[in-house]
Amino acid sequence: MKGVARSSLWVPAAVVALCLYAMAAGAQTLPQYGAAIHLGVQSCAGSTCHGAVQAFAGSTVNQNEFAVWQSQDRHSKAYAVLLNERSRRIARNLGLGSAAGAPVCLNCHADNVPADKRGRQFNIADGVGCEACHGGGSGYLGVHLAGTSDHATNVAAGLYPSELAGPRGRLCISCHFGDDGKSITHRIMGAGHPRMKFELAAFTQNQPAHYTTDADYAQRKKAPGALQTWVVGQAMMLNELLEAMVHPRRGRDGAFPELVLFDCTSCHHSLYDIRWEARPNSGVAPGTIRFNDANAVMLGIVLRQSAPQLAAELEERARALHQALALSPADAIAAARRLRETAGRAAGAASVGDARRLLAAMVRAGLDGQFAYHNAAEQAAYALDHLTAAVRGSVGDGQYRAMRAAVAEARQIVAKDYTFKPAAFREVLADLDEALGRR
Ligand code: HEC
Ligand code: HEC
Ligand code: HEC
Ligand code: HEC
Repeated sequence: MKGVARSSLWVPAAVVALCLYAMAAGAQTLPQYGAAIHLGVQSCAGSTCHGAVQAFAGSTVNQNEFAVWQSQDRHSKAYAVLLNERSRRIARNLGLGSAAGAPVCLNCHADNVPADKRGRQFNIADGVGCEACHGGGSGYLGVHLAGTSDHATNVAAGLYPSELAGPRGRLCISCHFGDDGKSITHRIMGAGHPRMKFELAAFTQNQPAHYTTDADYAQRKKAPGALQTWVVGQAMMLNELLEAMVHPRRGRDGAFPELVLFDCTSCHHSLYDIRWEARPNSGVAPGTIRFNDANAVMLGIVLRQSAPQLAAELEERARALHQALALSPADAIAAARRLRETAGRAAGAASVGDARRLLAAMVRAGLDGQFAYHNAAEQAAYALDHLTAAVRGSVGDGQYRAMRAAVAEARQIVAKDYTFKPAAFREVLADLDEALGRR
């Protein structure tokens, strides 16, 4: 059976508990920093292992993972990108020499483990290979080749638990935003790097799947669905952003804060396209630089359904951070610490509940002006995509098509970051509201 079932509207308590577990399990060492030897993509790609040309019928895993990764997945091209003209320009602007020789680039564009962790077949030019996500193979290769091991045994032997939302979030975010050991900075962006946008559930769907989430998969792995993955991803992104903000090295660039932690469009847009508007109750004043609070806005909307008191606290502390940024660096860091503390608790308490109710709440928040700035609108577009997909089974066909058309338009609007128009986004939300109310 292929394809993912995404019709469940109610999230049972067990799944909420799973979210909690998934967050806690996020403490697992990331593949790049682990003790295992990385054997190289070639060592996974044998034709009877993961290198089959076509998916094997009747096998638990597809076994053609290598072919999918190599022919469809951008991760296999991540190193090659470092040799292109854009990378040469970035490297020149940063005074780096060759991008493909610079650890700052290799840390995210390849499986850049230290020399003593590279096996005989390891090749840095393979880019973001199997072991960059699944962990160095030296520990688990033996047990999982034996064919008698189950998933838990493989994980105990060093396989990274990428099926769990928490550990997966930490893994993807470490390269799609950064972690303690590597970050994207405004300097790298200023040199010509594309803006990073990330949302865990959407990126999970966008990565060409080299696995099939069928009944057999569900039995072997306790993987959460798209909506749970989305919530966990919001909490983890907010947490990582605040970690960076309070960190003495990651949070600053000389006399200034690290600008990558702020909403790009609070500085980058045309002076002749005046579009500022207040966001109700946000503490954001005109002509100031906004921290990127998109994930806090999303999480606030979820929490208002499941933990209203915590929602009020999260919103209050986000507002306090916006205000503290106008006071002093010390005030801002203290406020960021308080928000991070709430975000940590929010991660455990946020549950999706009834998808239709949450969808209506999301639309209402947008109509109230909560997505006035591009970064929140971009995250809202992802959220609306997941939420409308989740209510498919409970609405009429015409109603569903109208919702999906509105979401497609929302995604178009946020794709143009420098010319984003909040009023256009609100119009789409009004369409969505209308479709939702239809019988
Ligand atoms: C924190 C991790 C990180 C660091 C550090 C980083 N990159 Fe990237 N880079 C990414 C990710 C993730 C993407 C893909 C972004 C997307 O499409 O969402 C990317 C995209 C790119 C692209 C565009 C690729 C394309 O297919 O169009 C280029 C070029 C690039 N990076 C070059 C560099 C260079 C050169 C350096 C070193 C100065 C560097 N990157 C440092 C993570 C990183
Ligand atoms: C960018 C990260 C990433 C890369 C690179 C990657 N994978 Fe995966 N892989 C995942 C994720 C996410 C899943 C789905 C969650 C899970 O089951 O762990 C997965 C699932 C799998 C599964 C489990 C299928 C199942 O039914 O249980 C296998 C086997 C696998 N990958 C093999 C490979 C091989 C072989 C390569 C290299 C050719 C590779 N992966 C590269 C992230 C990655
Ligand atoms: C070791 C670093 C690393 C890890 C870990 C990683 N990625 Fe990536 N990812 C990249 C880089 C670099 C690119 C850009 C490659 C390019 O453009 O050629 C990328 C590109 C992508 C793209 C294509 C983006 C686009 O704009 O089309 C998706 C989707 C993606 N990653 C999803 C994921 C998911 C999901 C995970 C976690 C399971 C993950 N990645 C983990 C480094 C990483
Ligand atoms: C506090 C204001 C501020 C914020 C926030 C900000 N930037 Fe910048 N950015 C600047 C300044 C100042 C420059 C240098 C402008 C110049 O050299 O003309 C710059 C330069 C750039 C450049 C190079 C432009 C060029 O013409 O070569 C890029 C790309 C860029 N920023 C991307 C981003 C992204 C992406 C974000 C959000 C993650 C961001 N910036 C957030 C102020 C900001």
